[in-house]
Amino acid sequence: MIAAGMWLVSGCYYDVSQNLYPNADNGICDTTNVTYSKTINPIIIDRCNVCHSVNGSLGNIKTEGYSNLQTLALSGKLYGAVSHSSGFSAMPRDGSMLSKCQITYIRLWVAAGAKNN
Ligand code: HEC
Repeated sequence: MIAAGMWLVSGCYYDVSQNLYPNADNGICDTTNVTYSKTINPIIIDRCNVCHSVNGSLGNIKTEGYSNLQTLALSGKLYGAVSHSSGFSAMPRDGSMLSKCQITYIRLWVAAGAKNN
């Protein structure tokens, strides 16, 4: 029964596994080629822009669009918020924390200068 349940979860809900098990990375965490366009922005679109779009930003924070995110990245607020560091509001608000791997991607991207790559 448990094995069948596991199969159903991984078989049917694979594409939303990040939402079901936000801290599970399924063993896949490729940190060798982290880019804004392929790695970072998809996470931001998925988890942040619903509240921080250019037109409807909560808290006057905008994560949508490269230059807005770059500003947050270079100020330290982006990593502080997603890593739930003290002194920052924990993000995403009202949702599960990003996966460890996603947080690592963001840390690496910021450390490399938050480039538009
Ligand atoms: C459900 C809505 C919601 C979602 C989703 C959300 N935020 Fe926020 N965020 C807010 C609100 C509201 C504030 C302003 C109030 C506050 O600071 O808590 C805020 C504030 C922030 C701040 C400022 C924090 C600080 O301490 O100054 C940052 C940075 C931020 N969000 C980044 C993000 C990122 C990155 C994501 C996605 C991983 C995200 N947010 C997802 C609602 C949201």
